[in-house]
This record gives sequence, structure tokens and C-alpha cells, in this order.
Amino acid sequence: MCGIVGYLGNKNISSVLLVGLERLSYRGYDSSGIAILSKNELSVWKQQGKIHRLSELLKPLSIQGNVGIGHTRWATHGVPNEANAHPHLDNEEKIAVVHNGIIENFLELKKDLQREGHVFRSETDSEVIAHLIERHFEGSLEKAVEKAVKNLKGAYAIAAISENDPGKIVVCRKGSPLVIGLGKGENYISSDINAIVSHTKNIMYLEDNEFAVITKNEVVVKNDSGEVLEKEIHHITWDAEASEKQGYPHYMLKEIQEQPAIVRNIISKHCTDDSIIQFPDLRMKDRELKNSSRFIIQACGTSWHAGLIAKYLIEKYARTPTEVDISSEFRYRSLLPEQGQIVVALSQSGETADTLACIREAKSKFFKVLSFVNVLGSSIDRESDGVIYTHSGPEIGVASTKNYVAQLLNIFLFALYLGKLKGHVSQSEIDDLVKEMRLLPDQIQSLLDQEEHIMAIAERHHQSREFIFIGRGVNFPTSLEGALKLKEISYIHATGYPAGELKHGPIALIDEKLPVVCVAPKTATYDKMFANIQEVKARKGQTIVIATEGDDDIVDYADDIIPIPACLEELSPILTVIPLQMLSYNIATLLGCDVDQPRNLAKSVTVE
Ligand code: AGP
Repeated sequence: MCGIVGYLGNKNISSVLLVGLERLSYRGYDSSGIAILSKNELSVWKQQGKIHRLSELLKPLSIQGNVGIGHTRWATHGVPNEANAHPHLDNEEKIAVVHNGIIENFLELKKDLQREGHVFRSETDSEVIAHLIERHFEGSLEKAVEKAVKNLKGAYAIAAISENDPGKIVVCRKGSPLVIGLGKGENYISSDINAIVSHTKNIMYLEDNEFAVITKNEVVVKNDSGEVLEKEIHHITWDAEASEKQGYPHYMLKEIQEQPAIVRNIISKHCTDDSIIQFPDLRMKDRELKNSSRFIIQACGTSWHAGLIAKYLIEKYARTPTEVDISSEFRYRSLLPEQGQIVVALSQSGETADTLACIREAKSKFFKVLSFVNVLGSSIDRESDGVIYTHSGPEIGVASTKNYVAQLLNIFLFALYLGKLKGHVSQSEIDDLVKEMRLLPDQIQSLLDQEEHIMAIAERHHQSREFIFIGRGVNFPTSLEGALKLKEISYIHATGYPAGELKHGPIALIDEKLPVVCVAPKTATYDKMFANIQEVKARKGQTIVIATEGDDDIVDYADDIIPIPACLEELSPILTVIPLQMLSYNIATLLGCDVDQPRNLAKSVTVE
């Protein structure tokens, strides 16, 4: 989960690389560096800390050159410091390498190389790559890279340059993403499109075990047998503007505010004016879905919370048994291949290593795989049989907000689509449900308009060092999501519980200092939630209640109340999560936390 960028051309190379690294900083930001070839001489600059510190280092320098690579790091081996920052060099300091991924056998490789006289300058796994390329270098950088990577076990996206074979960048990937941007008299490489889309919208996706030799005017892609490949060129439709902050103080706030428009866009993409639900990009036949016997959903973090809600919706509307696993636990199951089972992956980035590993395992056991992803062309997208794009646009804030809501809406639409295919939901029932769904954008906007009210609640509670979130039914996962949002951006310990579990232990935590966020809209679980809130109040807990507008009964038991519009129970998680996103955002900003790039985290967790 690092970011790689590279450029060959006549633009100001350090500026192209630094801007690209800024755009990739959500993938990791504890150190960064660039390497540039100028008049066939290799120069490297590295800096601990965020990318602006590297920019400050380079600002007074007039850097020339037209071939360069850059890297922004999320530490996996070796503390974040300048020595461990990429690019890494070989002994002779003629080859520079940047790497995203994990080399699992780096220790044995390092010992062999040290025995051969290679001197290591860092604690990282990545540095072995530079020395391996040096070992195999006989004049051709691409041949040396091809031989070097044959020694590697693990995941990698690599870019290498050398002053002994100048004028080119050699790249290869296995398990970590890498894209090539095509320009006129210039070319780019990047871990993802964000870093280069302002320069070119013509993109080539490198697949696992593919290599590319890139010069200013040419891109040659080969497979690991050395065959030259004809690669499809994709034209990207969105622009860099979409991934800029557009005047907001944080990406997270921009993305929270974008949610009404995102929901409107998804409805228009998947639902015709006469309420026919369609998934044009599905890549999976209706017959396969109709004959599905079981769904096994696996995901991480917020996407796992969406998976938990998907279970309720698919079982309700499509009456198909559905299981949900955390990706990193899924692999320990004894998966029993059975006709009609479909493994489902939910992933915003489409690069989460735990989730990607699961679909690979599922496919090795001949399961069909259907994925909900946001990043088109991501590894999970390209390795799945069927795909549903969540269409939430680039989500830069580490804390997922708009894509979670987009996941829930796409899952709701998919459950109806599947239910109709299986004959469990009629079109007239869908017509009524779609009417409720079409209210969502305005309902979400009405919640966003409660900004001041929610900020006041945040001010009252932002010094608390512990929160509990409780919910039931489709809103039990909402309590998990609210807790995750709060802890990951404000560093306050927060836990989500099924409200019915309080009496089995967690209620011992309740006292007058503990805020308890209760997700209690007027749904089938309301009465029991009401009882739980009374239990909390009886023990002097402070209650922050997400309640349906006009609920006068709950007022006496709510220290703070955030009203949400009345809505269909199955759509309520889309509304109940909005105040929780806003509450966590406001608490984190009151605490002065780095909302978009919280400590220890990165947007795309591409390590297992
Ligand atoms: C969510 O706010 C977190 N950033 C994290 O839990 C995230 O949902 C998880 O890493 C999964 O990411 P993915 O959806 O890209 O696979």
C-alpha cells in the first residue's frame, strides 16, 4: 500500500512526480522520494514525513532530466525514515527502484546478496530488488528486471531506471496495481489513475506477470515468456478535478457532501424511468444469478459492514442464503464447493490484498466471483467473473463515506434485481420500492443540512475517550460503521454492538461519562431499541439517539437526538450512517486530527 509514479518526457519532471505523489498520498505517506536521470546521470532525493517535506527539499534545486520515478510509502518493513524511503539503489548507485507490495522471501535473498558483497542501506524488503537487478545486469535493464523478479516471492509493482541503460523505465507487477498513461512524446506510470489523469486519459492496465519497457515515444508490453502483447487502451471519462478538494477543507467532508449527487447518479444508471433495474456492466449471465444457491460475501472494514447489510437484503428480497466473512478470516474456512454458490467481494479500491486473495482462492476452487468495486480496472474488477461498479467517483479520504452509501444502494438494487430474476419480487413491488429509493437524495441532503446541530453534539462529546454504538437488524452494521468512522479518524476508542448484546456484558461499561450512540429509527426493531435506550439511561449513560423525525416517545431518553426522515427499513442504513459520518468528522476536526490521512492508515491496504 504505497504509491508509485513515473514520467518520461519534456515537462518539469520533479513537478510531475511530486504532484503525482501528492495524488497518491492516500496510499501511504510516511516518507517519499524521487529518482531522476539527467544527462544519463542518476540522482535521488528522499525525505521522511509527508510529501510536502520532499517538495520543500527540492524547491531550491533546479532539477533537469526527462526520465524519473517517485514513491510515497506506507511502512511494512522498517520504520518510516529517510534510509527506508524509496527509491532504493544498487551497490554501484546506477540503478534506482521503487516498489509497492511485500517481498516475502527478502531475508534469504538479502543474505545471499550480502554474501556476494552487496551492501544494504535500509531495513526494507524492497531494497533487495535493486541489488538483484544489479546482479543480473549485463547492459539491458529489462532483461535484468525479468531475471531479478524470478527470484521474488510475494506481491510487487516495480519501476526501475538505470544510468547504464538510460532513456527508459522498466515496470512489472504481480499482485500490486500498475497503470501506464500514454501521452504524445511522453508517457507515465502510476499505481492508480489519480496521479496521472490530469496529464492523460489514455490508460493501459498492466496485468500480473507482465513487463513494460517505456520510453518517451514507445510502450512495449511483454508477458513473462517474452511475448509482445497488444494491450487495450482505455479512455478515462472522469477528470482530475473530480479528485481535487474543490474548496472543502478535507476530502472526507467533500465526499460526505457529494452523497446526494452520487445516489442520484447511481439510481439513474441502474434504474430506468419505469423502474426497471439494470446492470449493464454485470459480465455475469442472468441464468447464473437466477440459479445461484448461496452467496458468500467477503470484505474488509467498511466494506464488510456493507456486506453484513447485504445479507439482510439478499435474503429478504431474493430469498437466497447469504453468508458474510471478513476477508482475512475467509481463507481459514474449509470452503465446500457446491453448485450455484457465488463468492462476492466488496471493495472500494479493488486492491485490498485480503479481499483479492480470497477471490483468487475462490476461483481456484471454481467458484464464480461477483464483485462490487469502485475503481474500474482494479485487480479485483479484472479478476472477477461479474462486476457491479459502485460509481461513487474517486474516494480519497481514508475513511470511506460516499462509497459505503454507494455500496448499500447498489446492493439494494442488486437484491431487487436478483429477487425479480428468481420470481420472489414482482415489478409492481419494485415500482413501490423504487419510489421510496428516489426520495433518498433529498433525504440525505436534509441530514447534511443538520451540520450545526451535529457540530454542537460533537462539541459536547469530543473529549470523551470512549464511545459505544448500538443498533439492531439492518442497523446493527450501522453501529459498527459509526464506531469505525470515529476510531479511525479521531483515535477515540469506539465499539459497535448488537443492542441485544448489551445485557450480556457491555452494559457493565455504562456510566455517566460514556456516550452511547443509539441507532433507533422507527423500524421493526424500534421497540427493542427503545428498551435498550432505557437500560442505558437507567445506568446514567449519555444517549445520542438517531431517531425518526417526529418520534416524541424517545425524547425523554435521549440526551441528544438526531432526527432522520422516515424511510423504508431496508434503506434506513443509508440514512442512519450520514449523521454518524458527520459526528465523527466534527469530533476529529475538533481534536485537530488529520482527517484525510489518519495516523497508521492508508486508503488502499494492499498488504495482507
Ligand atoms: C474504511 O473507512 C476504512 N478505510 C477501511 O476499513 C476500508 O473500508 C477497508 O480497508 C476496505 O477497503 P476496500 O473497500 O478498498 O477493500
